[in-house]
Amino acid sequence: MAKPRLSSIDGKLAEEFAIPSHINEVGEKMSAFAIGHAAAGRRVVLITSGGTKVPLESRTVRFLDNFSSGRRGASSAEYFLDAGYAIIFLHRHRSLYPYTRTFSTINMLDALQFTGSTGDVVVNQQVLPNITKVLKRYQEVKDSELLLPIEFNTLSEYLHLLKTAAQALSTLGSKAMFYLAAAVSDFYIPSSEMPEHKIQSSDGPLQLSLNMVPKILSPLVKDWAPQAFVVSFKLETDATILLEKARRALETYRHQVVVANVLESRRGYVVVVTPETQAEVTLTEEDLRNDIEIEERIVSTLTSAHNKFITQSLV
Ligand code: PMT
Repeated sequence: MAKPRLSSIDGKLAEEFAIPSHINEVGEKMSAFAIGHAAAGRRVVLITSGGTKVPLESRTVRFLDNFSSGRRGASSAEYFLDAGYAIIFLHRHRSLYPYTRTFSTINMLDALQFTGSTGDVVVNQQVLPNITKVLKRYQEVKDSELLLPIEFNTLSEYLHLLKTAAQALSTLGSKAMFYLAAAVSDFYIPSSEMPEHKIQSSDGPLQLSLNMVPKILSPLVKDWAPQAFVVSFKLETDATILLEKARRALETYRHQVVVANVLESRRGYVVVVTPETQAEVTLTEEDLRNDIEIEERIVSTLTSAHNKFITQSLV
C-alpha cells in the first residue's frame, strides 16, 4: 500500500504542538475499532465535538477557549447510531455526551429519592421522565461497542488525535465519514514561545501575539483520508457572509459538504452546502413543540449523501 504523503502541516504539527503521551495507545484502539466494524459491514463516522482550549502558559493557569456546548456533536452521534453507523466520538472533556446530555441540566441528587419502607434509593420518575427509554438505548449501544469515546482538552491534543483518527479510518476508504462539528481555535502560541510559569499581572497589561493554526481540513482531505466523505461546519455570527464562506471552504479544501450555521439560530436553521447543491434545513414551531431536533434532519440528509458518495466511488 502507498505510504501517506507528508505535508508541511505534518512537520508543523510535530514541532509546534505537544504530542499527547497516549497517542499510540489511542491510535491502536481507533484502528482496531475501525477494522472490526468495517469487517462487520458497518460504516464508521468520526464526530468531533466541543471547543478546543489554547493554553497561555506551559503550567497552565490561563487559556483561550472556543465556544461549543457539544450538543450538536452529542445529539448527532445518537442519530448516526440509529442509522447503523459505528462512531469514534472525539470530544472535549466534560462537553455534552450522547444520551447523558438529555439530563445535563438536572442535579443528580434531585433525581434520586429514598423509598419509604426499605430506605433504598430509587429514581424519581417526575424528575427523569424518560430515563428508561434513554438508558435502554444507551446500554444497547454500550453492549454492542458501537461508540468509542476519545477525549481532548487542548488544541494540540485535538489536532494530533484528529490526525491519528484520520489515519485509522483511511483503511475504510469511502465508507468512512468525518463530521467536524468541534469549534477549533484559529490562533495559538507555539510551545517554544510559551512562558513556563503563570503570567504575572504585576508586569502590567498583557499583550498577546498569536500564530495562525494550520487549517487541518487541508491535509485531512488531501493526505490523511483522501477517499473519505468529509463534512465540515461553518459557524458565523454575521448571517450575510455565511454562505459565501461555506462555498469558499468547499472550493479551497475540495471536500464534500459544509453545514453552515449562525450562532444564535443554530438549533433551528442550518444550510447543507455541497459543490452542486444548497439545502436549507429548518425546524418549524410544531417541530420544536414535538421535541424534534435539527440534528435528526442533518444526519438524515448526510447519510443519504454518503450512500450516493459510496456508490459513485465504486463505479
Ligand atoms: O456545540 P454546540 O453548542 O451545539 O454548537 C455547535 C457549533 C456551532 C459549534 C457547530 O455547529 C459548528 O459550527 N462547529 C464548527 C465551528 C467552527 O470552528 O467553525 P470555523 O469556521 O472556525 O471552522 C470551520 C471548519 O474548519 C470546522 O469544521 C473545523 O473543524 C475546521 N478547522 C478549523 C480550524 C482549523 N485550524 N482547522 C480546521 O480544519
